[in-house]
Amino acid sequence: MKKKIFALGLAACVAASLAACGGSKPAETTAAATDTTAAGTEAEASTTAEGKTEAESTEGEKAAAGTGELQTVTAGKLTVATSPDFAPYEFYAIGEDGNPSLAGFDMALAQYIADDLGLELEVVTVDFDGVLSELQTKSVDLGMAGLSPDPKRESIMAFSDLYYMGGQSLVTVKDKADLYKSFEDINKPEVSVGAQIGSIQMDLATMNSPVADIVALPKVTDIIAELLAGKMDAAYIETDVAKSYQKNYPELEIIMEVPYDQEGSSIGVCKGNDALLAAVNGSIAKALEDGSMERFIAEANELASGEKYEGLLDESGQVQQ
Ligand code: ARG
Repeated sequence: MKKKIFALGLAACVAASLAACGGSKPAETTAAATDTTAAGTEAEASTTAEGKTEAESTEGEKAAAGTGELQTVTAGKLTVATSPDFAPYEFYAIGEDGNPSLAGFDMALAQYIADDLGLELEVVTVDFDGVLSELQTKSVDLGMAGLSPDPKRESIMAFSDLYYMGGQSLVTVKDKADLYKSFEDINKPEVSVGAQIGSIQMDLATMNSPVADIVALPKVTDIIAELLAGKMDAAYIETDVAKSYQKNYPELEIIMEVPYDQEGSSIGVCKGNDALLAAVNGSIAKALEDGSMERFIAEANELASGEKYEGLLDESGQVQQ
């Protein structure tokens, strides 16, 4: 498995200007209940991390929450696995100097959580199925990759509260839009339908297109390339990700929204680390409440409409040609 480790700078994110974005949905705006739950957990986080109640903690102690008692895979660091083929969640923004830097609202939230917990952020980049296995083997503290809280994953990770509400879509190319308008049109043996390995989109494909020729690929980028090359007919992709690729490749066409009952993104937390889970939920609640999450989404969308790269870097940290 290819794996790269970064100490995240996020300079590009900070430099980006704010942009109003139609598709941005922090979890609080569409899931008021989540906000309440998350806010409730924040107090719990302080209690767990400090061994004191909110009332007993001083401001200074709260600022240092977690540094003393949180156990992480590397002491003093928050190690986060991600799969940067997924703008606006995570991708590489190409700076003016031509160099790629990790960006996206998951990465901005990762930095926010690390800062909030007084830890240094370290990001491990792998394909999406690698994010799942890094969590399973407890090689990382968190997986942040637009991860759906799929109950089937509960044996290998814990889920944080939701921090973003996204949806699922079925995608094709303009040339084929007349052929593929419904699940029935796609559910045929001669129709090839793509989804990312290890993703819930694979489940959506087998559920909604059981008869079709389902093609599983490691990166969303590979799926898009196959669609554009005419080798694949349709694919199941997260809606905001499909829209982001559409900006670069207007020949992509979203056929329809696909129902899915575990909507929204949560953070995968190393199983058994209840203190970290509580602390992460506390940070998510803060980011939703203080407007940071909204800003991260706007910045990510702005950056994602500029020059970007989606995939893994080569050994020298450069974009793979
Ligand atoms: N939400 C989907 C899932 O949890 C897809 C996530 C893929 N993420 C990525 N960074 N490629 O299965």
